[in-house]
Amino acid sequence: MSFAFTHEQQPAINSLARLIRLVAFAGTGKRPMTISTYVQKGGTAKTTNCVNLAIYLGFMGLKVLIIDNDPQSDATEMLGYYPDLTPEELEDLGIPADRGVDGSLGNVLGIRGLFAPKSLDEIIKKPFGEYGPHLIPSEEQLEELEIGINASQNHDYRYATLISKGLKGEFPGVDLRSYDVIIFDNAPTASLMTRNSLVACDLIVCPIRMDKFSSRALARLGDRLRASHEEYGRTPAVAAIPTMFIKNRPRAMEHLAKLEDVFPGCVTESKLYMSEDYSKALELGLPILTWKGASDNSAGAMRSVYSEILDRLIALS
Ligand SMILES: Nc1ncnc2c1ncn2[C@@H]1O[C@H](COP(=O)(O)OP(=O)(O)OP(=O)(O)O)[C@@H](O)[C@H]1O
Ligand SMILES: [Mg+2]
Repeated sequence: MSFAFTHEQQPAINSLARLIRLVAFAGTGKRPMTISTYVQKGGTAKTTNCVNLAIYLGFMGLKVLIIDNDPQSDATEMLGYYPDLTPEELEDLGIPADRGVDGSLGNVLGIRGLFAPKSLDEIIKKPFGEYGPHLIPSEEQLEELEIGINASQNHDYRYATLISKGLKGEFPGVDLRSYDVIIFDNAPTASLMTRNSLVACDLIVCPIRMDKFSSRALARLGDRLRASHEEYGRTPAVAAIPTMFIKNRPRAMEHLAKLEDVFPGCVTESKLYMSEDYSKALELGLPILTWKGASDNSAGAMRSVYSEILDRLIALS
């Protein structure tokens, strides 16, 4: 008797194998994972990927917490909240009060003086209900966290401490024990806030555009990872996603080859393509993966990329 599978059977076998690994990951024995979306360059689709990856992992049955670590609050807005509106303004505009923001990471982190202490329950948002991804939102005041962290002790480890203690239920007011994956969305800067999220993470997701500026962003990321290894004795894994990719462009292929040189084994095989779907979904106020008008070129490509990222998470856990 032979155990070889036919070519036709292989995709189903691969899916089954992934499912088994996923069940193992979501099971109690596996360690929760922390991801950071990061590239020190604006507009490369970090927020788009943070939000949609969280939704994808939610579809896969994992409990996900998004932490909006960017005072621009784009992830918070992409998920339907209004960080700039006061309760009165929300009421005047006829927007439900729970679409406002009542606090951010600054309030739960225990930074005295700058932020009123709040528990996770007081600030958390559940844009898709209890069983979809949850969100620690951001608001403009989050900018001050940079000052607060700078003035505190162990300032590179504030987030790492929050997460490691929160995952054991040992951080006052912040119980993270129900989460399988925590994803930070970062600003395109090398701030202390960003550095904290990189120190705390297992995997950095870097969406990279195939243009001439990407080389500089890549060099900076390489430096950052080397520094992280020297300073903290550990280096997070990297998943680099070619994004806004335009097929059959020789230049794009050259940049892709460079990306594979700089991060061997880290570049996802699937790519995210340039598509108008992104701006259309944004206008409708929907993340791409929840928009029924999304095409193979956008949501379809995302599913392929994120299934590779899920495999990496499973391998790392
Ligand atoms: N594959 C794509 N094709 C076309 N447009 C895209 C694609 N991916 C993202 N976009 C659009 O690019 C813009 C920037 O995306 P996004 O806000 O996710 O970038 P970012 O890296 O988070 O930016 P920032 O550095 O300001 O935080 C958005 O308008 C988004 O809809
Ligand atoms: Mg962003």
